[in-house]
Amino acid sequence: MLSVKIKNTVFKNPILTASGTFGYGNEIGKFIDIEKLGGVVTKSVTLYPREGNPQPRIAETDSGMLNSIGLANLGVKDYCNSKLPYLNELDTNFIINVAGYAIDDYIETLQILESNDGKQVGYEINISCPNVKEGGMEFGVDPFMTEKLTSELRKHTDKILIMKLSPNVTKIQDIAKAAENGGADCVSAINTLVGMGIDVKTRKPKINTIFGGLSGPAIKPIALANVYKIYKSVNIPIIGLGGIKSVNDILEFILAGADLIQIGTLNYKEPGIGVRLASELQDYLKQNNISSVSELKGQLNI
Ligand SMILES: Cc1cc2nc3c(=O)[nH]c(=O)nc-3n(C[C@H](O)[C@H](O)[C@H](O)COP(=O)(O)O)c2cc1C
Repeated sequence: MLSVKIKNTVFKNPILTASGTFGYGNEIGKFIDIEKLGGVVTKSVTLYPREGNPQPRIAETDSGMLNSIGLANLGVKDYCNSKLPYLNELDTNFIINVAGYAIDDYIETLQILESNDGKQVGYEINISCPNVKEGGMEFGVDPFMTEKLTSELRKHTDKILIMKLSPNVTKIQDIAKAAENGGADCVSAINTLVGMGIDVKTRKPKINTIFGGLSGPAIKPIALANVYKIYKSVNIPIIGLGGIKSVNDILEFILAGADLIQIGTLNYKEPGIGVRLASELQDYLKQNNISSVSELKGQLNI
């Protein structure tokens, strides 16, 4: 059995798409069987529309990519008008990723989403975008601020509340604990790591903002270590992500303590990767006589 239950919501399998790497679902949904995914997490939405950072804002690296998109998005009102109708019709779960820069700003965005009759099963709160000063990092690096924001948001929704954590901290487990204390249902880890690249010919940075967020297979060991540290410290479910590209990677994250996983950068290489891995994961369970994927959670042998 591939299904996983979080709070009162059943995910048909543990594979979700990561925010910012799968648009709002409707673009890629034309080409792949999106309803075979466990769920879709949409691109960060903010209270007002944002153009994002100037180009160039993405660059390939040896085993992944750097991005500094800067939370380009259409703003919450347009999101509700133009994206929710498609997402509401999907026969799979969707989660809305929300970004902001101040508690009131996150709350106002959440309230607009809550008042719009959407079928979203939850919210992933981005407190970990390294690329803009309004990206919530102020919250994501400070346990006190994380707990405060979480508890304020908790007052405004009964849906699954997920805090998305940054690896750019000394002890991610302290931030996870703060999210748990604030009433989060779940944490997701990790967002991107701060990185940089230089074009030696022009001597210019490869990314206009100099620094960008590093993602893809290069960060998987770091993501896995963070998921394991969080698993050892909290009792709420964990969504693991960072460089996942195979069933083997998914199994590593689940054995380290994840309940669900997300696929990010690899969607750019193969938009249908989540659907393919869902089917391969089913085969793995069958071949190994494992009755439910949830049985594997945290089963790391030490
Ligand atoms: C181009 C790009 C855009 C992203 N945009 C967002 C975003 O809007 N909100 C967010 O929470 N994370 C965003 N992320 C981070 C991913 O959701 C994910 O946490 C990170 O890339 C690690 O997973 P991966 O290695 O599988 O890509 C973005 C990542 C990339 C590569």
